[in-house]
Amino acid sequence: MMRKLQHLVAAADLDAAQIGYLLGVARTFSPYVQRGETIPLLQGKTVVNLFFENSTRTRTSFEVATRRLGGATTNFAASTSSVQKGETLVDTARNIVAMGPHCIVVRHASAGSPSILARALTIPVVNAGDGFHEHPTQALLDAYTIQETLKSVEGKRIVIFGDIAHSRVARSNIHILKKLGASIAVCGPPTLLPPKPDALGVDHAYRLEELLPDADVVMALRVQLERQNRMQIPSANEYARFWGLDREKAKLLKKDAIILHPGPINRGVELDTEVADGPRSVILHQVFNGVLVRMAVLAAVCNPEGLAEWLDRGGHRV
Ligand code: CP
Repeated sequence: MMRKLQHLVAAADLDAAQIGYLLGVARTFSPYVQRGETIPLLQGKTVVNLFFENSTRTRTSFEVATRRLGGATTNFAASTSSVQKGETLVDTARNIVAMGPHCIVVRHASAGSPSILARALTIPVVNAGDGFHEHPTQALLDAYTIQETLKSVEGKRIVIFGDIAHSRVARSNIHILKKLGASIAVCGPPTLLPPKPDALGVDHAYRLEELLPDADVVMALRVQLERQNRMQIPSANEYARFWGLDREKAKLLKKDAIILHPGPINRGVELDTEVADGPRSVILHQVFNGVLVRMAVLAAVCNPEGLAEWLDRGGHRV
């Protein structure tokens, strides 16, 4: 019997059965979303997006996902809220919960914020990215995209390159992709890899060229230029030359290898435009799949019984 998903705080908390379930639900939703149909599993329910950091893809896709499930969505903007007057995260969230929503989706710069809210609140909490810690729905949509494009994650060689040390996307992907049977290698400048990369249970190299010939999937991470106050890289140009994926380095890839990026892309830094927009790129598929995966997560935490019933009926009648 699969463990019930009460909240989604971290990919580390998910087991392989739960990951497989969520990806399977997302797959079942796909034809409905492609036809522009609604699956009313959140009818009468409200999801609040509590974002303390900027977002384009994650916040919008949670909104679209909620609406595709027939629910209502409300966006909270920290910059115009009473957080500016010193109200705490927990007080803010408790006051929002008092208005009667059914789920909180939270993005916050502090690692552990979703976990604190999951303990303090009486409704499901979904992590939309917390500091350097985790971004579990990003990793789920990445796994979905790999499955969709290459049929399976199991046995695939996945190279994640960039700022591994500070990347919540890398951390969540390592948890999920390993549980699905992938072998993972990370790459980046020594200053942007954790001091003991082996502790992540992955291989590592400092030169991308060493890893590219064996890769089935290459996942570029955004160089967080706004967090480079400690000068971990000499300059964006030098980063691009040594660790960016350009047309020349991409020639080392296997014929069917694919390229992912969580966005937003620094074009000409971690990815050249020709590579980002080229035939191997599945970046916009990732964005579409983000809606499916977030629908699966919201349905699983907000209406598990309704979802199970819908799946039992074959997912054909709504
Ligand atoms: N991938 C991702 O989290 O993008 P946003 O910051 O735009 O949500």
